[in-house]
Amino acid sequence: MQTKVRKAVLPVAGLGTRFIPASKATPKEMFPIVDKPIILHIVEEAVSAGIDTIILVTGRHKTSLEEFFDRNYELEDTLAKQNKDHLLKEVQRISKLANILSVRQKNPLGLGHAVLCAQSAIGDEPFAVLLGDEVMYGKPNVTEQLVNVYNKEKKSTVAVMEVDQSEVSKYGIAETKKNPGKMEFSEIEHLIEKPKPNETKSRLALPGRYVFTPTIFKILRELKPSKLGEIQLTDAILKLAQTEGVLAYSFNAERFDAGDRLGFVTANIEFGLKHPEISEPLKKYIKEKAEKLK
Ligand code: G1P
Repeated sequence: MQTKVRKAVLPVAGLGTRFIPASKATPKEMFPIVDKPIILHIVEEAVSAGIDTIILVTGRHKTSLEEFFDRNYELEDTLAKQNKDHLLKEVQRISKLANILSVRQKNPLGLGHAVLCAQSAIGDEPFAVLLGDEVMYGKPNVTEQLVNVYNKEKKSTVAVMEVDQSEVSKYGIAETKKNPGKMEFSEIEHLIEKPKPNETKSRLALPGRYVFTPTIFKILRELKPSKLGEIQLTDAILKLAQTEGVLAYSFNAERFDAGDRLGFVTANIEFGLKHPEISEPLKKYIKEKAEKLK
């Protein structure tokens, strides 16, 4: 069996209803954080973690994602004629970044179902899953941190982070043998999808970065749909934890919930502050604005 994590699944079939009207005709994954679409941030994270094959689990109206990673000869030709070498290099870099495959999730049957759609493209090997709503910034990045734990422990590993009690109902929440501190991991004992605050004492949320052994596919295939008719990834991870074991890893990185309007704006500011060309004028603008808002 292949033991290296070489492939990643990116479920991108969602409708992006939280961003209507912007998401009406443009996939939310194509929205830019400064000058890079969200999907590029996510694919770059996977590639830096040593992944060379990306499986986009797409739906209708998502063809621009595939096109984005394809070559664009017309644009390349124009940039070459205009001697815009740095832009030409960037455009070509993106089309060479990874082997991009796509499979369709024809029915919206949940996140677990989306992952299951990628089974034939993954085969019998460990793989990562990255959700596009969260944009992370860290060196090494979060997927790299998970792959490092997987390589040492040979166990499925999911990223966890502490959230406020008011936030637990937005996430899958893990109960672990002992709450891991920074840069630590511990075995998952229980997992609950979007619990009410009184349903768990844990505040360890899963922000959407996972490394799984292929056993998860067998579990997903046999899983009964939830009350809403969805195949929940969280239910499958719990079953995996009860059989092979799953590690919860407290990662070290900044994260932005780009699937939420405020998080999206914040991510743009934060990445803008790290951007070599706009960092200084943006800082100046923020300082002046803060003064006016006092
Ligand atoms: C999904 C998962 C949830 C996870 C979250 C992270 O929920 O089901 O376990 O914590 O992503 O963003 P969604 O936000 O798609 O409803």
